[in-house]
Formats: sequence, structure tokens, C-alpha cells
Amino acid sequence: MPVRPWFPTLIYDAPLEKDGAKSFHRELLTECKQIAEVDIDGQEWCKEHYPAGFTSYGSMCQLHRMSPTFAELDRRLARHVRAFARSLEFDLEDRSLAMTDCWVNVMPRHCAHPLHLHPTSTISGTYYVKTPRGSSSIRFEDPRLASFMAAPPRKPEVRDRNRTSVEYPAEAGSVILFESWLRHEVRAHRVAGERISVSFNYNWF
Ligand code: NI
Repeated sequence: MPVRPWFPTLIYDAPLEKDGAKSFHRELLTECKQIAEVDIDGQEWCKEHYPAGFTSYGSMCQLHRMSPTFAELDRRLARHVRAFARSLEFDLEDRSLAMTDCWVNVMPRHCAHPLHLHPTSTISGTYYVKTPRGSSSIRFEDPRLASFMAAPPRKPEVRDRNRTSVEYPAEAGSVILFESWLRHEVRAHRVAGERISVSFNYNWF
């Protein structure tokens, strides 16, 4: 074939643990709910920045340093982050990727998270803690989209490699990792039960 694909965008998606790590997962869920309840500063922050839901991003954004349960999540995520970094063939120059931020998100019905990226980090991701059936997915956008000038739309049956966006369903127990410059969003959550997740950033400096 004279045509070869270049510059792919890699996204990592796997269960945190093969056995589901049920008791750890339950503990984490309990703690996420507790944080949403007791984090008064966070609730205040959300009134302005995340009015339809709760996130501890503006108040408690280093949970891995405050709670043994979140520190355990950091430990369990480590092998996934290493595997993803291997796929990306990062030359980390003897340094390693370390978790810098870790926060809880609680999305009730109608809550949405508009398109954004995580500009000062290397790898970002989410661990899904509670995802009632019908929970909204995470949607990633082709990072080159802003440069597409006269590009026609793609055919409905487009092959994966030529897509301009992709959605990953939110599934409790699974981890999603992506490079932090990749724009993503969560469209309005449409079901009654809360969608709960823990998001995080990793940095190599
Ligand atoms: Ni994000």
C-alpha cells in the first residue's frame, strides 16, 4: 500500500484488576461519597465552576496524599501508566511518571463536563467507580481538528483510523488513560443514578 498512517493518538483502556478488586472498589466508592458530602470548600467551588455536580478538583485535588485508599489507587494504577508509557515510547530519562493530582467527580442527572484538556500534565485519566446503566461516555476529539480547513466530513462507515472523534463507555472498574493534551468531554448524564469517577494527572517532572 502506498498509503501509511502516521501520528496516531493512543488511548489506553483496561480493567484496573482482572479479579475486579471488589472490596477495594467498594471502599473507594464509600470514600468518594463521603468526600462529596463533607467537602464544604469543594461544594462552594462547584457552585461557580461545576454547578450541576460535584468535583473535588478545586478543593481536594491530591487525594492520593490525603487518603490511604486513594494512595492504594495510585499503586494499582502504576502498572497501567507504565504500560501506556511503553506504548507511547516515552524517553523518560531515568525519571518516572508520578501522580500529581487526583480528585473525585460526582455527576448527577443533567450534569455535563465540556471539552477540555489538562495542559500542564503528561498523562491523564479516569477510574470509573459507579456507572449506572446508561451513564454518559467519555468522548475524545482528534487533536488536529482545529487545523482541518477544507477537509470534508468522513463517511458514516469510516474506519477507526480516520475517525475525528471516539467515545469510550464509562464502565465501573475500568481505567482510561490518554495524553493530557487530548481534548475530551462528558456529555450530559441522562440517567437518575449518579456517575462517580476518580480522575488523575501524571507528570514526569
Ligand atoms: Ni478531563
